Amino acid sequence: MGQLQQGSKKGAFSRTQPWNMRYRQAAEEAQGSTTARAHDDRVFKASGRITFSVLLACFVGACTGLVFGYDIGIAGGVISYPDFQRRFFPQVLEAHADKDAFCKYNDPLLQLFVSVLFLAGIVGAFLGSFTAKQWGRRPTMMLGGLCFLIGAVLMAPAVHVAMLIIGRVVMGLGVGICVMCGPLFLSELAPYHLRGAFNTQFQLFITIGILVAQCINYGNQNYEWGWRLNLGLAGLPAALLMVGAALVPETPAHLVEVGREEQGRQVLRRIRGAEDVEVELQDIKDAAVAARSTKVNPWRAIFSRKFTPQLVTIVALQVFNQLDGINSIMFYAPQLFDAMGSGRREALMTHVIIGAVNVATTFVAVFTVDSLGRTFWMVEASAHMMACEVIMGVLIALKMDPVTGAIPKDITVGLIVVVCVFIAGHAWGWGPMPWLVCSEVQPMHTRAAGTALATIVNFILTFIIGQCFLSMLCSMRYGVFFFFAGWLAFMGVYTYFLVPETKGVPIDEIEYKFRNHWAWGKLMAKHDAAQEAKVVDDIADDLAAARGTSSCKVDVAKKGKPEM
Ligand code: BGC
Repeated sequence: MGQLQQGSKKGAFSRTQPWNMRYRQAAEEAQGSTTARAHDDRVFKASGRITFSVLLACFVGACTGLVFGYDIGIAGGVISYPDFQRRFFPQVLEAHADKDAFCKYNDPLLQLFVSVLFLAGIVGAFLGSFTAKQWGRRPTMMLGGLCFLIGAVLMAPAVHVAMLIIGRVVMGLGVGICVMCGPLFLSELAPYHLRGAFNTQFQLFITIGILVAQCINYGNQNYEWGWRLNLGLAGLPAALLMVGAALVPETPAHLVEVGREEQGRQVLRRIRGAEDVEVELQDIKDAAVAARSTKVNPWRAIFSRKFTPQLVTIVALQVFNQLDGINSIMFYAPQLFDAMGSGRREALMTHVIIGAVNVATTFVAVFTVDSLGRTFWMVEASAHMMACEVIMGVLIALKMDPVTGAIPKDITVGLIVVVCVFIAGHAWGWGPMPWLVCSEVQPMHTRAAGTALATIVNFILTFIIGQCFLSMLCSMRYGVFFFFAGWLAFMGVYTYFLVPETKGVPIDEIEYKFRNHWAWGKLMAKHDAAQEAKVVDDIADDLAAARGTSSCKVDVAKKGKPEM
């Protein structure tokens, strides 16, 4: 409050300046800084060049996506090993005999094996939000890698379903920590004009992880014990992440936030390959001043009125990341194609083809996200993925034998093509963009908690889809594809109207995109007015206290306390 009142007394603010701009000015004046300036006058100038150091850091940050992707890719393949089913889920083998094609994999325990990882990931993400803020992004990534490694060591030699599930839970903790921290680390290290390209490496590495896992599934399919190797090999990307994280620097934003400004300056110089990094450093310092002045716990702050636009955006985008239906294909494509009569070998091969398309088309996002923007790709993806879902639903409705599940060969080929086009939409739209935007829209104070929240929402939805898709398929049949098509239509409209474009704006300036937005701006202006009333109230309190009376307070108290 102190800084704010000083600013007010100096009369430095105009009534039309946005609330936090005035706040920043006040804070800067209180510190004797000469850098106060109007947001609109800012020229966003990138400092330095792309150095080896920043590329290495980008690679390591993206390895968090690799562990995540490996896990997604391996699950569907592992559960299709007969030896695995016999040992841990014999009821599935028995069910093959008497259930129809839509229902033969509908086993709650089997689905729990796939999805329990995401429940544990929710806890991991929450934990990671604290370690990322207190210890830093780098140690947090190392911790995530370590949990993932321990999980792999527990699962590979599993002899009992409990050992398997415990390993998966520990691995899940690691995945949660990695996924909350990776995009954050990437966004904070990236030069702002290439933040899209840097951050989408996270999604690119997810897809590479998935593809590697699918190839391993395919290559090992004839070995009884192949699933053990698949699960054990998860230790490799985890080890890579741990070693890599030991070699790269902490982000300048975190260093400045915890008061190690000089170290932050040195890291900036190193990753930007330039001596003069003061403009960028000043931005980070501004954000840190604002972050430090907020006494409210980040998790409470995120749910306060002030952050409603960011909160709604994060929740919506992560829900959409899952409700495009991607994981129904990623987790269960081998089961789907097996059910259609392709045979296990062809089904696994199809999974590999889908994985390769996923990797290849993600490059479209990497190369265009900083020019075409984020919302463009999300809207485009909604339209074309919706068309694919409808085509898949119609083809399956008309051509699948409901008892045997068989589909004529030429139709299956057509379906695979449609699935690939569908995958492309996720790869350049609904896959990378939510992760990117969610890591961009939070101010420094709530950034770690915000990316953790994004992970938590994502994992809750992934858990639900992992747990329910096979049951939905069993009960809704081809209707499940129309269900996802409906969501995609809504997602496109929502994004077009309500998601602000964040390309090319420094991460600590993105709040203004919400302030200038036709809908969110109104909401924030309301909050500003309430905050302003609170300042008047507080000043009146101080004056009254100084005069030893309560007369001022009575007047202003009528305004009521604004919500935080
Ligand atoms: C999603 C994952 C999904 C992957 C597929 C990511 O954006 O969060 O759940 O499996 O994309 O590429």
